[in-house]
Amino acid sequence: MKTLFIGILSLFYITLPAQNPLLIPPVLSGDSIQLTLQYGTHSFFSGVSSSTMGVNGDILGPTLVLKKGDFVNMFVDNQLNDTTTIHWHGMHVAPENDGGPHTTIAPGSLWNPSFTVMDKAATYWYHPHLHTKTNEHVSKGIAGLIIVKDDEEAALDLPRSYGVDDFPLVVQTKDFDANKEIIVHSNNDDIVMVNATVNPYLDVPAQVVRFRILNGSSQRSFNFGLSNDLPFYQIASDGGLLSQSLQMTRLLLAPGERAEILVDFGAMNGQSIYLKSYASELPNGVYGAANPGMMSGMTLNGYDPNPLNGSDFDILQLNITAATGDPVGSIPGNLVPVTPIDENTAVITRQLTFSPERMGPNQLNGNFLINSVFFDMDVINYEIPLDNTEIWELRNQSAISHPFHIHDVQFYILSRDGVAPALNERGRKDVVMVAPQETVRFIAKFEDFANPDVPYMYHCHLLTHEDKGMMGQFLVTRPLSVESVADEGILIYPNPGSGSFIVKAEGRNRFTGLEVIDQSGKIVRSFAEFDESGRIHITGLTPGLYIIRIHASGKYIHKKLIVI
Ligand code: C2O
Ligand code: CU
Ligand code: CU
Repeated sequence: MKTLFIGILSLFYITLPAQNPLLIPPVLSGDSIQLTLQYGTHSFFSGVSSSTMGVNGDILGPTLVLKKGDFVNMFVDNQLNDTTTIHWHGMHVAPENDGGPHTTIAPGSLWNPSFTVMDKAATYWYHPHLHTKTNEHVSKGIAGLIIVKDDEEAALDLPRSYGVDDFPLVVQTKDFDANKEIIVHSNNDDIVMVNATVNPYLDVPAQVVRFRILNGSSQRSFNFGLSNDLPFYQIASDGGLLSQSLQMTRLLLAPGERAEILVDFGAMNGQSIYLKSYASELPNGVYGAANPGMMSGMTLNGYDPNPLNGSDFDILQLNITAATGDPVGSIPGNLVPVTPIDENTAVITRQLTFSPERMGPNQLNGNFLINSVFFDMDVINYEIPLDNTEIWELRNQSAISHPFHIHDVQFYILSRDGVAPALNERGRKDVVMVAPQETVRFIAKFEDFANPDVPYMYHCHLLTHEDKGMMGQFLVTRPLSVESVADEGILIYPNPGSGSFIVKAEGRNRFTGLEVIDQSGKIVRSFAEFDESGRIHITGLTPGLYIIRIHASGKYIHKKLIVI
């Protein structure tokens, strides 16, 4: 009788949703990092395997732990039957190392970027970035975290034992078909997972614990919170530690955004709580809210019914266990100095307006544009002089929120609709959510890297929007650096002069372009191909110092010109 009863009981338990231990991606570090992009299979659901893509494994990728100042060699081996790219999201690297859509890795080939880690301690990530296929490659599983460490961070009393009191949390939603294969480009992403684990639990020690959270979803925003509104403390935004830890009970992260938080489990040994998304509190117009459009009645194909939309759901069960030997016992208050860029140093304000391809209540099913154009691989949208400090003003004239992301820089948000941002948005950022009808201004400096050929990207980090062309690209070029003036046997005369000048070169027949650039970095005259004996007419220029940029054999030669 007793045996029979246990038999029935265990049968009953089998039908309950399994609680799965949270997968913790392995760590890779050192000055030489091997990343193999490969196909695999993964059991999101017990007893069923799904086709996936992963890095050095079946799903997701290792967590790269890098130290600021170190030089790293990345060896990215593409064993997929598809071209892709790998982008180091949030990191400040040269355009040719950035892994944008122009830097493709053909099937069977190896990409070997190398760079010095210049970023501040924070949590970054890597993911594919092939134009039109970013969502496919990310959804199928290619994504990993990058933890950057530095001396400032090391000086603080923070949890930093990976997998012990410092946990990576890659939070995603996906949709699956009847055979449990991942559906790419779905608006019915109803399966929540952390580190590719569905229904996960994690044992955490009864002490201060650090979570590095990435919203790695294609579209969904999460409004993170802990059960019973247990407070937590945000210590880092996308690209750096905050100046102080901030106590909060809710944290909204849009796709692409990261945050590091601390939770004090010190008095909770034996208890069990949940990390949740309080999506019932998301405003309309955010993917993940009850209504993905700003106005009620706006629909998005496949979005309903989905039990996650607009309701609160569990993300990760946290079981509090005994403390470790040497725990961090309290939440630090002050963290690191954060010095936003002075608004007065900006030399230009660029306006970027987001709009739907077609207006009206059905707009969510269409595509979105930036300044009325779609992304074109062959069109450079901006050319930014190296060392420019710029304000970018993002205006959302569509009915859905777009998380805007820019490569190369970390920026500081100046305002949202004219008002200073919340405290947790006053640190370094590389993604910012822009709500319908909102205007967000940020400031950034484009320093260190210039390349006349390889652009950086900016785009909406809703991967469906990005893939459909809500993206643009910019070159950072080197017009202003008087120090970089190379002689190369080129003469400009008369100099000082006015009206016109002559460019003379020894051993060269022709150039492919020439620009006259003023001290603000503005191109004031531009000439296409010209003969070496050509006279360049510059009547009408205000007297002063100019840089002459000459295109020669695929590079730029800079000369000073004084106009009198
Ligand atoms: Cu995370 Cu251009 O991307
Ligand atoms: Cu990026
Ligand atoms: Cu968008």
